[in-house]
Amino acid sequence: MLRPLEMAHQFLAEVVTKEDVVVDATMGNGHDTLFLAQRAKKVVAFDIQEQALEKTRQRLQEAGLANVELLLVGHEQLDRYVTDVKAGIFNLGYLPSADKSVITQPKTTLLALEKLCRQLVLGGRIAMMIYYGHEGGEIERDAVLDFVSRLSQREFTATIYRTLNQVNRPPFLVMLEKIKEYKHG
Ligand SMILES: C[S@@+](CC[C@H](N)C(=O)[O-])C[C@H]1O[C@@H](n2cnc3c(N)ncnc32)[C@H](O)[C@@H]1O
Repeated sequence: MLRPLEMAHQFLAEVVTKEDVVVDATMGNGHDTLFLAQRAKKVVAFDIQEQALEKTRQRLQEAGLANVELLLVGHEQLDRYVTDVKAGIFNLGYLPSADKSVITQPKTTLLALEKLCRQLVLGGRIAMMIYYGHEGGEIERDAVLDFVSRLSQREFTATIYRTLNQVNRPPFLVMLEKIKEYKHG
């Protein structure tokens, strides 16, 4: 059985082609950025920590990939950098190897998610890995679940993938697919 992060990658890989622009909303150590860069025309990756950009730049260099724009910018500003996005990924929470007080926040996460939903092309997909074991994580988890549950079923299909019998609050996956054009305003 696929683990949630493996499922997230498969879910996005099913639709991403070498014609597509995609977003990594939480670059971190660059694992998802690399995965997307191997499949897309271009990846636009966001993080607010310089360390994340350094790690990711190094990872991409080692893989010989140059089709990525690395931005030291909060994902809540993503609409200034991308349109017509085929896929996006979020890994919520903190970067294990860095300052654990720098965590994704409900307000900015929701802003980014809402903007990415608008920028998504028809048939585009978003995968969100929800880590909620840290302080404040449950508030962010509930905010995301509330937002995605309210999306119109005519515009998006929203699905959840989570284990039911694991201890220690394991991360789970929320998957969105745009099935009809989002109406602005
Ligand atoms: C769980 S880590 C991401 C792990 C990453 N996907 C990887 O493959 O290593 C979450 C990341 O989100 C970043 N972050 C926090 N707030 C952010 C924001 N407003 N915009 C973009 N990134 C943010 C943190 O700096 C951290 O690197």
